[in-house]
Amino acid sequence: MPVISFANAKGGAGKTTAALLLATEFARQGYRVAILDADPQRWITQWYDITGPMPNLEVISEVSISSLQGHLTSLSSQVEYVIIDLAGARDALVTAAIGLSDHVMIPVQGCAMDARGGAQILDLIGLMEKTGNLKIAHSVVLTRVASMVTTKALLIIKGLLASRGVNVINTPIAERSAFRELFDYGGTLYTMDPQKVSNLEKARENSRAFAAEVSRLLPMRVVRSGNKNWLRLVRDAA
Ligand SMILES: Nc1ncnc2c1ncn2[C@@H]1O[C@H](COP(=O)(O)OP(=O)(O)OP(=O)(O)O)[C@@H](O)[C@H]1O
Ligand SMILES: [Mg+2]
Repeated sequence: MPVISFANAKGGAGKTTAALLLATEFARQGYRVAILDADPQRWITQWYDITGPMPNLEVISEVSISSLQGHLTSLSSQVEYVIIDLAGARDALVTAAIGLSDHVMIPVQGCAMDARGGAQILDLIGLMEKTGNLKIAHSVVLTRVASMVTTKALLIIKGLLASRGVNVINTPIAERSAFRELFDYGGTLYTMDPQKVSNLEKARENSRAFAAEVSRLLPMRVVRSGNKNWLRLVRDAA
């Protein structure tokens, strides 16, 4: 059961949006997914309140340092993916969640020059790796990228991060009204009406490509359990 957390010490980078896109995409593909809402502002919980129950997805609210490990232990026999949405902070809960993650996604606003919130998480991971003598897989995902931002500009940002040894997800998350509207009206990109939401198909493609890339990054292959009440994690032979 891969645990993927979304962290950036600064608010508004697009953590919750990216976490929700990934979770709903995996759920749509038939995987059972739990989102741990570890942000006291409870954006995911509010989204779930207006969305209502949906197949393959559960949302766990009120996650604290003391409850985090217990949630992960009990979920390990129930779901195929756990996605943790963290607050825009660098506190003990963020540190604990990072330490328990198989992959930490660091959303950084592609158009903003201020990437300090992302850098703080990269520094924190570096410190945890050094002091704990462990490896914490992580990637930067560029978010809220305007469609007119050229591939060249993105390549420059990726080059800069790569020179620091940071993996950058090839698929940036674009700035799209469909992604904003998820939180206004609830539901998913697949329950929205293409007549009413502009560029919905492009938003869906973006979300699918992002999820495909994240799943390729994970150290284990996740096998859908279908209707059976068990799951198998198969070590990727590659
Ligand atoms: N790709 C996107 N396209 C359009 N709007 C977006 C996108 N990503 C985020 N937003 C909007 O930007 C705002 C902040 O996004 P979000 O809540 O995902 O960020 P966050 O990093 O989780 O913030 P916080 O630290 O406050 O939890 C929200 O209003 C959201 O709808
Ligand atoms: Mg958030």
